[in-house]
Amino acid sequence: MALRYVVQIGDPVLRQKCEEVKKFDNDLFELLDDMKETVREENGAGLAAPQIGVPLRVVVIDLEEGYFELINPKFIAQKGKQTGAEGCLSVRGKQGIVTRPNKVKIEYRTRDGRKRTVTAEGLFARAICHELDHLDGVLYVDLAQNIVDVKEEK
Ligand code: NI
Repeated sequence: MALRYVVQIGDPVLRQKCEEVKKFDNDLFELLDDMKETVREENGAGLAAPQIGVPLRVVVIDLEEGYFELINPKFIAQKGKQTGAEGCLSVRGKQGIVTRPNKVKIEYRTRDGRKRTVTAEGLFARAICHELDHLDGVLYVDLAQNIVDVKEEK
């Protein structure tokens, strides 16, 4: 495993539409392992592959609900609304208020290529929405109101 550099807003890789994963091989496992090490080092709730410069549809989420590796994730259902604060490891020192669905259901593949679904609510749903947006080149700052400076917690 290796810690990876988290690219910052302004880098064109963050604006790309990412490609689907087709090969569930050692390169993918290495990417996933590096993403785990990086998201934990950065104390993030989630991380998308383009944030470490890899334009593939791969996301990791690290929350109370567990640690999830989401490959080729897709929304199946969305319900309700929630409005709250969001930040991003690629937009250091800022936070903004974003409205998201309160509940989502997604379908994805595991690292061994198996199809799974998960239903998420609240912060877990928010993290999924935020990270899936990264796969289509969308950053929370595109959707946020009231973007403010926050102190770095490190
Ligand atoms: Ni982000």
